[in-house]
Amino acid sequence: MPETNPTGRTRLDRLPEWAALAEHRAKLGEVHLRDLFAADPGRGARYTLQVGDLHIDYAKHLVTDETLALLRDLAAATGVAELRDAMFRGERINVTEDRAVLHTALRAPRDAVVEVDGRDVVPGVHEVLDRMAAFADRVRSGEWRGHTGQPIGAVVNIGIGGSDLGPAMAYEALKPFTHRGLDVRFVSNVDGADMHEALRDLDPARTLFIVASKTFTTVETITNATSARAWLLSGLGGDVAAVARHFVAVSTNAGKVAEFGIDTANMFEFWDWVGGRYSYDSAIGLSLMIAIGPDRFREMLAGFATVDDHFRTAPPEANAPLLMGLLGIWYGSFHDAQSHAVLPYSDYLARFPDYLQQLDMESNGKSVDRAGRPVSWQTGPVVWGTPGTNGQHAYYQLLHQGTKLVPADLIGFARPAAELSPELSAQHDLLMANMFAQGQALAFGKTAEEVAAEGVPAEQVPHRTFTGDRPTTTILAPELTPSVLGQLVALYEHKVFVQGAVWDIDSFDQWGVELGKVLAKRIEPALTEGAEVPGLDSSTAELVRRYRALRAG
Ligand code: F6P
Repeated sequence: MPETNPTGRTRLDRLPEWAALAEHRAKLGEVHLRDLFAADPGRGARYTLQVGDLHIDYAKHLVTDETLALLRDLAAATGVAELRDAMFRGERINVTEDRAVLHTALRAPRDAVVEVDGRDVVPGVHEVLDRMAAFADRVRSGEWRGHTGQPIGAVVNIGIGGSDLGPAMAYEALKPFTHRGLDVRFVSNVDGADMHEALRDLDPARTLFIVASKTFTTVETITNATSARAWLLSGLGGDVAAVARHFVAVSTNAGKVAEFGIDTANMFEFWDWVGGRYSYDSAIGLSLMIAIGPDRFREMLAGFATVDDHFRTAPPEANAPLLMGLLGIWYGSFHDAQSHAVLPYSDYLARFPDYLQQLDMESNGKSVDRAGRPVSWQTGPVVWGTPGTNGQHAYYQLLHQGTKLVPADLIGFARPAAELSPELSAQHDLLMANMFAQGQALAFGKTAEEVAAEGVPAEQVPHRTFTGDRPTTTILAPELTPSVLGQLVALYEHKVFVQGAVWDIDSFDQWGVELGKVLAKRIEPALTEGAEVPGLDSSTAELVRRYRALRAG
């Protein structure tokens, strides 16, 4: 295989920096985190970073100063900083779709200038934010009335993927900041049960639908929006004029919005330089803005911007997204880790891992480089997780004693939500004690000698021994506020960027979701009408036959 790809870049695994890391890994051998901590009493304080409100502890990683320096060399050799700067400048770094990648412009201050094809996009961003704010205020105050003159009591966001996961995650995360008198729900699945459960106790006269779709062609969203429209009209006596008071759209596609029957005066725009999974700080966040209010939404944007600035300007040794991205590469390629766990010690962050799944796996689940040639190195990991402490009583057994190395992020907050009662707030120390304990147990484990010294019978010692040496990053912030959430999301966005840059893949397309969509379209008539699907394989054909027989009852 040639040393360089057609764009002139040396293939990752042919770089001397890659070879240096492989050699270093071999040299490190089985050096244990216990040894690394023993050799450097200052490690716990030294291996930390502060980014905005986020304190990031990376001491419990299987790295030395030399590892980190070699990883930074790799980032330099693969042009991470150059690609980052090209992204911030609005260059078309999404090569397969020939688009700029400018989610960072969504949180740029009013006086910033960010150009795409010579045009400053910042005024447009703020114009839409202002329109969203005016609309959100009208809904929140009850000034916006439904068709029968009643104020809105429930907002239903209809969208999927990036048009659902971001606002749904952030709505859960920021519940204590939401208008508790407004019921905000999210419908994404084309499974009618999702819509049924969302609407069954709602009053059409008081319900507002936000149809959120970048393309406005996504079959799940259009199908659900059509059903919602029918539900609304049947509940309000069939007057189509009701649609204008109960449906708004968020999209880049005004033509399709109008075609669907939503007045484009009730459309909130965003742009093709915002990827779906990078879009919840655009108009896609309208449902969230209605829930938390425009001021809180702007605080969240400022949180994003804090980390954008950090990513753009911090030197490599102190650059948190760079460090987190490089650590992931270290584990994927030099420790054979296949997955990455995100374990928030906050129930409000219950949907954060789901959100990160799309952000990370849709971005970096690729196996050809930017020039279209197969890669011969690991790319994105399987991202998963649930809030602690629940996971501790489910899958942490494998994290502690299983055969797989699963690097994990532990995310926690010093203060619980302000609205918790004193009794419930008092539980917070116990929650956080668990988070710190897990990081400690994963890193240092418990040796056979320690177990035996407790008088454990010899035959039980292996079962009760913890090898440790299992890496974690701990992210600690004062409190889960809108700003802190923005900071967290931007941290992961840029981490994903760093990894894609090193791996030389296009982190901004998602061709891998297309085939299933096309095949579903072909199979559907076979299910509904028994139509013949030419060329169907025997397994799928048999499943279709069986399904039809069972469906008929
Ligand atoms: O799953 C593919 C995808 O295109 C995602 O990237 C996107 O977030 C989602 O579908 C929804 O797309 P849209 O916002 O255009 O409806």
